[in-house]
Amino acid sequence: MVSAQDVQKLVQSVLRGYKFLIVSNREPYIHMYTPEGVKVKTPAGGLTAALDPLMQAVGGTWVAGGSGDADRENVDEHDRVRVPPQNPKYTLRRVWMSKNEVDKFYFGFSNQTLWPLCHTVFEKPVFDKSFWSGYVHSNRLFAQAVREEIGSAEKAFVWIQDYHLTLVPKMVRNGFPKKRKLVLAHFWHIPWPTWNVFSYLPWAREILEGLLANDLIGFHIRNYCMNFLASTEKILGAKADYKNYTVEYNGHITHVKNFPISIDFETIDKLARRPEVKKEIKVVRAPQYIPYKYIGVGVDRIDYTKGIIERFRAIDRFLEKYPQYQNNFVFVEAGAPSRTRVPAYMELGERIRQLADEINWKYLRGYWKPLIYIEGKMDWKRLFALYRTADVCIVSPIHDGLNLVAKEFVAANVDCTGVLVLSKFAGATEELRDALFVNPYDIEGFADAIKTALEMPMEERKRRMKNLRRHVAENDVYRWLADFITEVGSIVKG
Ligand code: G6P
Repeated sequence: MVSAQDVQKLVQSVLRGYKFLIVSNREPYIHMYTPEGVKVKTPAGGLTAALDPLMQAVGGTWVAGGSGDADRENVDEHDRVRVPPQNPKYTLRRVWMSKNEVDKFYFGFSNQTLWPLCHTVFEKPVFDKSFWSGYVHSNRLFAQAVREEIGSAEKAFVWIQDYHLTLVPKMVRNGFPKKRKLVLAHFWHIPWPTWNVFSYLPWAREILEGLLANDLIGFHIRNYCMNFLASTEKILGAKADYKNYTVEYNGHITHVKNFPISIDFETIDKLARRPEVKKEIKVVRAPQYIPYKYIGVGVDRIDYTKGIIERFRAIDRFLEKYPQYQNNFVFVEAGAPSRTRVPAYMELGERIRQLADEINWKYLRGYWKPLIYIEGKMDWKRLFALYRTADVCIVSPIHDGLNLVAKEFVAANVDCTGVLVLSKFAGATEELRDALFVNPYDIEGFADAIKTALEMPMEERKRRMKNLRRHVAENDVYRWLADFITEVGSIVKG
């Protein structure tokens, strides 16, 4: 097993003398005004959770968009703040965008154009010139902040994150003195679509050219790497080498590799074993709260890629088809509101609420209802109690880069009594082979899989969960970080 200290040593050895920077749109710590004064929150979503341990271990600077209403009042004159606030380990450099800039860059191009395009879902991407101009402009703001943070350092390593910042690599590299050493890497946290889907984008060339200023680009799985290589070849005419996973464009070589992201297994495992969680399991299983034989759980950002509607429909069909489970099964869904200024997300929130209500009304009998829908972040003790005691956790995205909830459930299911029902279309399926797989669009098959999960003999549940846990324990977030940095190291040396 790889530890935080191992990653720290690795960075110190392969990137000795390099200034270390991470760049992402989402910041890891958000200052917010509350009636009790300024509070610091951490965002929902896997990206920041995965990279924060690295930054805590190695220090350095994280450049990210300021998003909290108290953010501006909590930085120094260089827009920097040391984090985590209780025990500062690294510097967060905030980039400021006006409401209008955020509308075009984040709610617009990033989340109404690139997000649906890359997930290839039936949500039409918006191709809007003003979103694109706003995106270019905001990428310039991030690139400018990165240049300022690099300062006069002779050597710098910049690790850029995700689809919000595709133009930053080229912008940072352009004009950077050749005699100083700059290593650029990017991690793409979402799927990369087939080349012909990507070619629909009127600005596909610019985005590919921006990304090819990187020395290394990481994706979760091989399939996304292959799609990316093909996109560079077909759209740009770059020289893609499918054997060695490299792209040559304008004399620069970019390495491409798959690194499935992960979670901090040990920390989650420990949290799940805490006495408070054991106490909470009693509450969850007690008749006043969920007085049923079978419990299911789902945890998501409220996003149309997550298949929440399909999941509820499958639960409805399951109860219709197998009425013996009525009165006996309850499903708890925690949905964290996300990107709520985007019309598709607003509508989805409403559709989910309505569907949950419709299904509950359909089956309502005495005080039993099949769905408990909680909008917002669940208290961690209740979440872990559910992860530990649930018979089934359903993760059913219609497309997902990887999906960390699936791995989180595995790490928290310490008694090995739960079954993971997982969509075939999540990147995580390549690793979590002992889950039960579903096609979330196939409502009949999905309903049957829920039945199979609930009726699975305990011995088989344990065997499958032990295998899943072994895999995730060995391939945790530190391993992911170590693999990525090792690859960076071989590029630095080569
Ligand atoms: C996905 C993306 C991340 C993003 C996260 C949360 O995991 O890959 O880049 O940070 O969703 O979404 P948000 O829009 O709130 O940052």
